[in-house]
Amino acid sequence: MDYSISTQSLEETRTDCLVVAVPDGDDWPESTRLADAETNGLISELCRDGDFSAGIGTTELHVLRDHKNWKRLLLVGAGKPEKMTAVTFARMALGGASRIRETGATNALVAFADLKVQGRDQRWSAEVTARSFEQAFYRFTDFKSDKGKAPALKQVMVATESEDLQSALDRGKAVGEGMNVTRTLGNTPPNICHPTWLGEQAQKLSAEAPHIRTEILDEDAMTELGMGSLLAVSQGSSQPARLILMHYQGAGDPKEPPHILVGKGITFDTGGISLKPAASMDEMKYDMGGAASVLGTMTTVARLKPRANIIGVIAAAENMPSHNATRPGDIVTSLSGQTIEVINTDAEGRMVLCDALTYVERFNPATVVDMATLTGACIVALGHDTSAVMGNDDSVVNDLLASGEETGDRAWQLPLWDEYQSQLDSNFADMQNVGGKAAGTITAGCFLSRFTKAYPWAHIDIAGTAWVSGKEKGATGRPVPLLVNYLLRRSGSA
Ligand code: BES
Ligand code: MN
Ligand code: ZN
Repeated sequence: MDYSISTQSLEETRTDCLVVAVPDGDDWPESTRLADAETNGLISELCRDGDFSAGIGTTELHVLRDHKNWKRLLLVGAGKPEKMTAVTFARMALGGASRIRETGATNALVAFADLKVQGRDQRWSAEVTARSFEQAFYRFTDFKSDKGKAPALKQVMVATESEDLQSALDRGKAVGEGMNVTRTLGNTPPNICHPTWLGEQAQKLSAEAPHIRTEILDEDAMTELGMGSLLAVSQGSSQPARLILMHYQGAGDPKEPPHILVGKGITFDTGGISLKPAASMDEMKYDMGGAASVLGTMTTVARLKPRANIIGVIAAAENMPSHNATRPGDIVTSLSGQTIEVINTDAEGRMVLCDALTYVERFNPATVVDMATLTGACIVALGHDTSAVMGNDDSVVNDLLASGEETGDRAWQLPLWDEYQSQLDSNFADMQNVGGKAAGTITAGCFLSRFTKAYPWAHIDIAGTAWVSGKEKGATGRPVPLLVNYLLRRSGSA
């Protein structure tokens, strides 16, 4: 998709589809009032007669036969003005973009810039508009015989009076494209998307990005290093594990401490010997969502070129039951030297992450953030709209929370207090890999915290947010917006 700004007056701009926001009530933005006047009060009439509700993201499309420049008019509900927040705007923009996808319009003129969003400016709304169009026009047809017709839209113009929004559009497009990379990796079936394939995707990315270098550790290298915890997860699978590292150098000084993203890359999680029930087990192909968000974020980083050093790390393995698989009761030695009693082989995410988290100590990180579809308990606690954050450093945690607010890709902090640590006590090893039923998301965080003492660190549990189930089943591309915003903040480019 091509994004540009248009500073011409709306009525003089030729377009296949003018898109305006319609708030509930009569406090309309200038562009909506103008569209109403140009169409002889069409919008007022629809609202008055109860034919358009103005609920957030609802849409109403009209073909205009008589307007000299506009072929169609798309109304997008903006809800109550006092509730127009970052999250609501993102929902509205996605609703509008999704509706245009169903039309034959090849270009659109979007007039959202003069809608007031609490605490946000026009640069922000332009960025989210571009991101929303990328999200809405995503397709995944690799495995369909009939790929259907591609949507017609090629060009989005954002109406504005200020000239300097182009960079915001470019940023929104780059974030949306990164999200779509993440979605495609997640949606790819687990017979194709295995650890070796994930490594190849990283190599492909770096082959096209001169500032990124990919390095891959195979099982021999990991055995040599002593990554007994990570390898305990992959040992039941015929697919070998991989530790994938993508080094991006954007700071002037190659020695400047990097920000490191570590993603859980379980390409399929059967639970292992602690086998999961059959219902919805197919969705455990998304258990590499953290890894996919690393690749998506690195794609966006390659475009936006922030002035920072960044390393994306993926701990990739498949969790399978077999005669070679790790048993409940087995004790393994992690790269850190700490021993782990495996009580439940389904708590495998923390076991691959802990060795990756120890490994990255060698890069002298400025900060480390890991992302993982780690616990079902996170869905119980926070549902499907909110990721969980916890960590050992308030400034990292607060930056992640603020990035969530700013992008609408929200997260909420859970406490990582010492009182929870004893739930991991083992009679036979330094710790066990599960903490029981209570506070499952927090005890998973506690487990990771034992491997991250050497640097400022935070963990994001994306179990509820990385994909949606049901009729619309698919990866969401989260938490790429949050991560990109975090990295831009930390590199002084936000
Ligand atoms: N990948 C799962 C977590 C998960 C479950 C994410 C459902 C999204 C939806 C993880 O590996 C897992 O199985 N966790 C266990 C931990 C338990 C054994 C302590 C869980 O949540 O049940
Ligand atoms: Mn599991
Ligand atoms: Zn898992």
